[in-house]
Amino acid sequence: MDKIKVIGGQTLSGKIYISGSKNSVVSLLPAAILSDEVVIEKVPHISDVDNLEEILRFLNVKFSLESGTIHIDSTHMVNKPITEEYSSKLRASYYFMGALLSKFKKVEISFPGGCNIGKRSFDFHLKGFEKLGAKVTVKDNLYIIEADELIGADINLPFPSVGATVNIILASVMAKGTTIINNAASEPEIGNLIEFLNSMGAKIKGVDTNRLEIIGVSKLSGGYVKVIPDRIEAGTYILAGVMNGKDLEICDVRPDHLTSFFEKLDEIGCDYKIDGDKVITNKVEHLKPVNIETAVYPGFATDLQQPITTLLLQCDGVSTVKETIYENRFQNTKYLNEMGANIEVLGDTIKVYGPTSLKGKLVRTSDLRAGAALVLAALSADGETTITDIKHLLRGYSDLIKKLTNVGAKIWLEDE
Ligand code: EPU
Repeated sequence: MDKIKVIGGQTLSGKIYISGSKNSVVSLLPAAILSDEVVIEKVPHISDVDNLEEILRFLNVKFSLESGTIHIDSTHMVNKPITEEYSSKLRASYYFMGALLSKFKKVEISFPGGCNIGKRSFDFHLKGFEKLGAKVTVKDNLYIIEADELIGADINLPFPSVGATVNIILASVMAKGTTIINNAASEPEIGNLIEFLNSMGAKIKGVDTNRLEIIGVSKLSGGYVKVIPDRIEAGTYILAGVMNGKDLEICDVRPDHLTSFFEKLDEIGCDYKIDGDKVITNKVEHLKPVNIETAVYPGFATDLQQPITTLLLQCDGVSTVKETIYENRFQNTKYLNEMGANIEVLGDTIKVYGPTSLKGKLVRTSDLRAGAALVLAALSADGETTITDIKHLLRGYSDLIKKLTNVGAKIWLEDE
């Protein structure tokens, strides 16, 4: 089943319920091993979760998932080298670096996977571990990180990296003394992780700010968290609604996590209304072009850059999008152009000449959010689109086909 087919041009109406955040749950699952028994609710149905489950089971952690709730029991877990077979399936496998270092003072893990959207180095993570007293050795593809003891330190991140912030929090939560992370990432997913760790007895202060204070504790136990709504999934379906909706309601949204995104929809002249945790969307004609520049939270999210490019194709005039976080996140543009778009790539910026009408074509998903951009394009295009290599999409969009079918889209999976 690695093809999606879409017949475009349908009006979408009804309700889409947003699932728990991918980028939260992928740090919550490795964090779970720091405690004995934990409960995580509102877990999305995505392959990144399946792949983390495999790693947990490999480490002899008990894992059960029922109706979106995970119970994890790490009482009898064992620390073993995590081989490439496990680590390469997703980026977030590297959160086991921080978690295992914290719990066992030693971790051996192969290189992580994830979308091919740029260099994606993790030198800040490794330097953070070293600051806490760990020794990092790299042999071929294997990272060996160990410490006699971890001691709290002041760590200044050169860039507010989400991954480095998560890994340093995990590594320092049971260190001796206090760790300060300056220039920490303040994405809502980091807040969700802190909430989870504090529910286990951690002492982490400074949530939602760029300065975190982690007062080491000797032991963590218990733990409960509900995964926050996925702001990127919400943004993607809101885009589907402003392009093709008739009173399409996107439910279970945290609108406060999407402020910069809504500012751009306002500038474009989209029709949407926020009503508590619902966003009601309608298609309108004559949209205005805009200039977008991605930034760390609360700026415009890089993960919504490719999806919103599909909307810009419908605007009357030239829009620009500047990508500041990754070096290679315009792979969607090649396929959009094949569908009839007119997008020029100029280094870190694209120029989108609108309006254009799209035609269904055979296109390929190069990475997760490029896939989302192509699904949005296929929903608006004339005729049938076939999207191949959809494993990327299944990593991050929970029940995508079901959610869209329920609101009137003609979209289905097909075996290769
Ligand atoms: N960077 C370094 N060194 C480091 C860490 C990061 O140079 O040690 C650079 C990266 O190369 C990149 C930039 O800093 O150019 C941003 O990296 P960051 O660490 O903030 O991102 P991440 O943790 O790798 C997470 C999400 C991404 C999302 C970014 C930014 C997860 C698993 N991934 O990545 O999500 O784009 O934060 O918000 O949480 C997606 O969902 O499609 C996705 C790619």
